[in-house]
Amino acid sequence: MRTEKEQYLLLKALDAFNRKIVVISEEYRILAFAGIEGNGYKTSPLGKHCYETFFDRSNPCDKCPVKKVIISGEPALRDISSDNLSKQKRACLYAYPVAIDDGNNVVAVVKMEFPALDGLEEELRQANRFLYNLLQSACDGVMAADSMGKIVVFNDAAAEVTGYSVEWALEHLNIVNVYEDGIAKDIMRKLRSDSYGGKGKLKKYRIKARGKSGKIIPISLYASIIYDEEGNEAGSIGFFHDLRERIHIQKKLEETQLQLIQSEKMASLGKLAAGVAHQLNNPLGGITLYTKLMLEDYDLEDNAKEDLYRIIKDAQRCRDTVKELLEFSRQTRHFMKPININHAIDRTLFLIENQTLFHNITVHKNKAPFIPLVMADSQQLGHVFINIIINAAQSMDGAGTITITTKESAAKDRVLIEIKDSGAGISPENLKHIFEPFYTTKEEGKGTGLGLSVVYGIIENHGGSISAKSVIGRGSTFNIELPITRETEKGAEHADLT
Ligand SMILES: Nc1ncnc2c1ncn2[C@@H]1O[C@H](COP(=O)(O)OP(=O)(O)OP(=O)(O)O)[C@@H](O)[C@H]1O
Ligand SMILES: [Mg+2]
Repeated sequence: MRTEKEQYLLLKALDAFNRKIVVISEEYRILAFAGIEGNGYKTSPLGKHCYETFFDRSNPCDKCPVKKVIISGEPALRDISSDNLSKQKRACLYAYPVAIDDGNNVVAVVKMEFPALDGLEEELRQANRFLYNLLQSACDGVMAADSMGKIVVFNDAAAEVTGYSVEWALEHLNIVNVYEDGIAKDIMRKLRSDSYGGKGKLKKYRIKARGKSGKIIPISLYASIIYDEEGNEAGSIGFFHDLRERIHIQKKLEETQLQLIQSEKMASLGKLAAGVAHQLNNPLGGITLYTKLMLEDYDLEDNAKEDLYRIIKDAQRCRDTVKELLEFSRQTRHFMKPININHAIDRTLFLIENQTLFHNITVHKNKAPFIPLVMADSQQLGHVFINIIINAAQSMDGAGTITITTKESAAKDRVLIEIKDSGAGISPENLKHIFEPFYTTKEEGKGTGLGLSVVYGIIENHGGSISAKSVIGRGSTFNIELPITRETEKGAEHADLT
């Protein structure tokens, strides 16, 4: 028991602190107070209801902490989650139990008002809001989890990347579900190790996150462990960047690089082919000429004549090859005119459809009814289609389908031709080489390997492009693009149809 002097001094000290303290009964009546004398109360507030005295109310405030203290016997804090609390109501933020009757009962509480802290509280609130806005406006995803893995911070960017809503994530998401099985644990293990950017830190870690409905998203993660004042782990925070766009661009870049290498390779092969073809042309002319002269000038036996005819025939085959090499290296002359691609395809099919090779092959035509004209050499274009369609037919085991589609790409100012077969397909390794001269997988004597290289040369020469896709066992698709011309047919093309 404190002495009277002690009690007197403590009360004085309380007053000197200039803190407003009110002792309130369980009926909300003011039993004692300190620090509110100067607040202009005309009569003593002792015995009056606190809500009436301080807030001019006729009944207790909604979220009064006094009630909580009386029920629980524990200190209580007013629920300040709703932001529109008046400044006056915020005066009643803290309430503490005071045990009386030898500590057996809590019959009154002390309700404290901290006007001096009001400013600080406001500052704290503003600082919190600033931090919250900072997290929200970050372009990268930010999420933090407590020591149990429960997500406690989840910004808009994190929601956008993962597909979860912020509200849902804060309520239901656990960090272990953000990654594939075992990965969250692995991240924590790395965070605790020294080898990944310092203890408690993980830098630029490429990993796959698991978004809503199991969607896998590649991310780059910077993570840290959050420690409390005693150095214990209190949770973790991660900043992550969606890598999908970057990976997509990288893939495109690699494809373009490959195409560039491919076209450079084809250009140098073209030069080589042109050189060889020119070198062979003259001697071949000589061989044919002198063989013919021998046939004319000498009265030879039939056997000898037969041999000479054989020489002429073989020399002719060589000249055909030379011609194709020149075609590939774009050394031949062209007769360009505006052409309707649909007509060119019809003409090609008319020429080859009756061959035995095509007897059990169905050709589907999927032609755009109105297709812009292209400027082309019709004979050469025919050559292109024949080569591709014959290859397609040869790739099938006697039966299958070939689908030819034509359409316009207005955006690119180009006409697109797709020739798709249901043949054996081409392995990725072989696909890299099919446009090279003399590349063939056919038995000796069955293919020269010049067909597609000629096709490539012709299409390039027409300012177009050609590419092929294939799946082993499913078939191959050749895509050709040719630039549209503004010129009209002027009837020339129809004359050419016969
Ligand atoms: N539609 C296709 N399906 C499967 N493989 C194909 C197809 N088109 C081309 N190929 C492959 O590409 C190779 C090269 O084709 P290309 O037309 O240049 O030569 P080839 O057909 O072998 O001989 P050539 O055309 O000179 O008679 C072929 O040997 C074949 O392996
Ligand atoms: Mg071929």
